[in-house]
Amino acid sequence: MNKYLLKNFKRNTIIVAAAAVTAVSFTQCSPKQSESISAVPNTTPINDPTKGLKDYLGKYFKVGVAVARQSINRDSALIIKEFNSLTAENDMKPGVLHPSENTWNWKNADDIMAFAKRHNIAVRGHNLLWHSQDARWFFTGPDGKPSSKELVLQRLREHIHTVMKRYKGQIYAWDVVNEAVQDGADSTVIYRTGSPWWNLFKSPEFIEAAFRYAREADPSAKLYYNDYSSESDTKHRKIYKLVKNLKDKGVPIDGVGFQAHWKINSPTVQQLKTAMDEIISLGLDIQFTELDIDIRVPAALDPNVPAATPAAGASAAAPVDPGYTPELEALQIAQYKRMFDVMKQYKKHISSVTFWNVTDRTSWLDGRGQGGGAASSTAGRIPRKAYPLLFDVDGNRKKAYWAVVNK
Ligand code: XIL
Repeated sequence: MNKYLLKNFKRNTIIVAAAAVTAVSFTQCSPKQSESISAVPNTTPINDPTKGLKDYLGKYFKVGVAVARQSINRDSALIIKEFNSLTAENDMKPGVLHPSENTWNWKNADDIMAFAKRHNIAVRGHNLLWHSQDARWFFTGPDGKPSSKELVLQRLREHIHTVMKRYKGQIYAWDVVNEAVQDGADSTVIYRTGSPWWNLFKSPEFIEAAFRYAREADPSAKLYYNDYSSESDTKHRKIYKLVKNLKDKGVPIDGVGFQAHWKINSPTVQQLKTAMDEIISLGLDIQFTELDIDIRVPAALDPNVPAATPAAGASAAAPVDPGYTPELEALQIAQYKRMFDVMKQYKKHISSVTFWNVTDRTSWLDGRGQGGGAASSTAGRIPRKAYPLLFDVDGNRKKAYWAVVNK
């Protein structure tokens, strides 16, 4: 949880609390009463067992899901029914796919591609350049010394060409560069410092190169810059500037990926619109690439969370995860509804919306700290599940599913 979210949590608490009361009371009221409350999410199931998210939301955008290799076996029926876009959660990242110069781990990525093809599901590629899960060997030369810029660019080009050509024509969009913007309030620091990329180049040259190599390798793939907290007050403008610089220099880019690792209390509708409007003003497409809505908020502000440190003299009972309580569920439903209402409104500018993982049984967030964002650590935190998706731990549709699908 970064400072921005903490600040916004306070600002939004009142709005969210009001939404919770509304949403909770909706679940308790009769259909007749609910008709008079236009703002409450409709969570009454549409009774058509043949349809999935891809059908309900098909008139707006593609609906995708990120999968691990094992989930195309375990969750195959659900995936086929609900989604028409797939992303490899990890298996196409440079460090996973290409851990050393002459090692390529194609098996999982190929299996995911074959599954998608078999079931007529489109594929989004993730990703070609990142500071994390990266191919660290790029940065050491054959003599054991740090690589020159030229060598790193040569390796980057080789990497991008090899991956994109293998799946040429089969991947409709690629996250070419992931998370290259610096967090934090200092608006003068746009680019993420401290990464091996920045340490070597000290300029966005590597970002520009990655996009140019990607366009050469598969001109049929749309190319995206992808980042998290894209709607935050401290970050949206920096992302805009990064992307505008690319456009101004004639670098080939088609859109911006909003990761959308959201919370029940953020972003606000206005923040989301502001960030989208900026990207749209550049003539670019938007994809929501890693959507989930974490029910956890900072422990200090969350009455559902028992204190991590017992008071003096009290017994040190292990803190308990309060779970997916009705209150948190109501807040999550309300946030899902708010966000999808905006996304539907902006459908002309959004070509796909991808969820990050299939069901609440396994979310990447569960292994991270309570209230954790993309960069937080688990140290000293109470382990709590995030319950961030539209399918529960048994793979059943949650009420939030119907709030998203219904008008
Ligand atoms: C995450 C995966 O879900 C985890 O399994 C892995 O351990 C770490 O990476 N932003 C991204 C994704 O762009 O690649 C990350 O995926 C989640 C945050």
